[in-house]
Amino acid sequence: MTALLSVAGLSVEAPGGRRVVDDVSFTIEPGRFRALVGESGSGKTMAARAVLRLLPPGFRIPAGSVRLRDENLAALPDAALRRLRGPAIGMVFQEPMVSLNPAIRIGAQMREALVLHRRLPRAEAEAAARAMLARVRIGDPDRCLAAYPHEFSGGMRQRIMIASVMLLRPALLIADEPTTALDTLTQREVLDLMTGLAREEGTAVLLITHNLGLVARYADAVSVMREGRVVEEGPARAVLAAPRHGYTAALVDALPRRGAVRPSGAGAAAPVIEARDIAVRFPGRGGLLR
Ligand SMILES: Nc1ncnc2c1ncn2[C@@H]1O[C@H](COP(=O)(O)OP(=O)(O)O)[C@@H](O)[C@H]1O
Ligand SMILES: [Mg+2]
Repeated sequence: MTALLSVAGLSVEAPGGRRVVDDVSFTIEPGRFRALVGESGSGKTMAARAVLRLLPPGFRIPAGSVRLRDENLAALPDAALRRLRGPAIGMVFQEPMVSLNPAIRIGAQMREALVLHRRLPRAEAEAAARAMLARVRIGDPDRCLAAYPHEFSGGMRQRIMIASVMLLRPALLIADEPTTALDTLTQREVLDLMTGLAREEGTAVLLITHNLGLVARYADAVSVMREGRVVEEGPARAVLAAPRHGYTAALVDALPRRGAVRPSGAGAAAPVIEARDIAVRFPGRGGLLR
């Protein structure tokens, strides 16, 4: 199969000349999921941002090629590359408040991308936004469209962000630690939704994470990064089962063993914690304090 994205010999230099990404290569086939995994500071974010040339000021790309199907992104002028961000390659970051504009209602933000990139009439764009919010299980899409980002919890905001990005039906989704700021349960819920949506749409995913547990659950292929370099690469299952590089082996050893924390048989244990009739109330309109 021809690759959707092929990155070859990609390097990134920080101001001062330090190579924070050094000779990185990987491919992603259409509709497949690749994880880029490694500890904090290993160069994952810079490698992903270099794909779209979204680097901080002063950073440069001294070497490497990036191909999206037959197009050499490294040779594209900025304006042409900008037109690919969104419709061809979507990005989701750790903190959705960075990407969502706090001053603009969610409906207007979601519509804007469709009107700009797809030239949809407003009513059609709104209908598409509503349908996509329902697919990420936003219970009341109409209320959501009329609301501002700060009115939602972190997990809800990330689902809204994913809906906004997937609305443009990109061929590739780059998700940079999309759930690292969330608690474990919400993290799983959001990643299940994101990957489910991507599978349904045939969207390929580059999932960046420092969490090898997520690689096991979600990725087809994995590249392990350390100090700017890819130290190991291969099918996720094979790499996790039999890591060849000492660094990967150490990461795998640090994973909690499946089942290790579960109570072992011997009847159902009494619950450690039980909760009943929990409610969270949002202040309504009116009332003394509004
Ligand atoms: N704005 C910056 N200026 C200088 N160095 C940076 C900047 N941002 C990141 N770095 C350095 O680049 C390297 C790679 O960072 P990054 O790609 O963010 O790692 P990761 O995403 O794997 O945690 C790190 O050593 C980090 O210290
Ligand atoms: Mg990062």
